[in-house]
Amino acid sequence: MKLLLIVSMVQFIAMFRENHNYFKYFTMVHIIDLIPSALTAALKEAKKIVIFTGAGASADSGIPTFRDALNSHWSKLNPYDLASPEGWEKDKELVWAWYEGRRGDVMKAQPNKEHLGIAQLELDTRYSVSVITQNVDDLHERAGSRSVLHLHGSLFSPMCEKCGKSFKFPESPPVNTPKLMPPNCQVCDHAIRPGVVWFGEALPQDVFETAEKLALKSDLFLCVGTSGVVTPAALLPLAAKNSGAFVVEINPNPSDIKADLHWEVSASEGISRILEFVISLRK
Ligand code: APR
Repeated sequence: MKLLLIVSMVQFIAMFRENHNYFKYFTMVHIIDLIPSALTAALKEAKKIVIFTGAGASADSGIPTFRDALNSHWSKLNPYDLASPEGWEKDKELVWAWYEGRRGDVMKAQPNKEHLGIAQLELDTRYSVSVITQNVDDLHERAGSRSVLHLHGSLFSPMCEKCGKSFKFPESPPVNTPKLMPPNCQVCDHAIRPGVVWFGEALPQDVFETAEKLALKSDLFLCVGTSGVVTPAALLPLAAKNSGAFVVEINPNPSDIKADLHWEVSASEGISRILEFVISLRK
């Protein structure tokens, strides 16, 4: 009896060794349990995936969202004074110091599993993957994403307030201080301003148009860690849905996104599971 059992076990192991599809089968069972079935179905069919990220995508890297940042050591300040052309005119030293503080926070942070997972997905020949972000950090790029559309600009692309000439930051890390004089433009001597889009300002037109085209052509549109309240960026998931894409939201909390599927999971967990499933499809 004992011998029979050992022989059966040996046969069982041999069967696995010969045919790795069994491994695939068991891996799939495990992963499928962790992803909503509507999403696995969409991942099997999809060719063009758009990943649309917001502040929640960088939360797992410890980057405070705009609102969180306001609630910390800057809690007494009015958001409009920090993120509007009027606020800039009122007190450039305050605004420049605030954005330099945020840039310092980002430089100390590392990409999380969400950023790294997206960069891995981009390499999968099954899909064409595009990344559209509302974030002004550079964590997607540092994770290896090749072409990221920044709808709201970047903390790392300052420019002249007058002539728009870009400015290169010095190598030294930014200082954390309540007030800081912005540098001057080498061409026209006006102040250098943060390269982010403020309240009341238009999004970079070419970037938004490209993002819109990608949304309209996508068949799977993943919204990751965004509240979906800031337009026109928040119109992209709707545009994708209206043109036939399956829209999935990855967010532990409810939001304003009108998704086909709301998946209550953190950005890093959700993207890791998607990546694991996609890898299992290759076997
Ligand atoms: N994983 C996924 N989502 C998360 C996580 C996480 N770990 N932590 C928080 N979230 C979600 C929150 O539930 C919320 O829905 O991230 C979302 C963050 O929402 P907002 O702070 O409104 O950020 P965002 O949607 O990117 O805001 C858009 O508004 O503040 C301006 O210009 C700024 O680009 C920003 C724009």
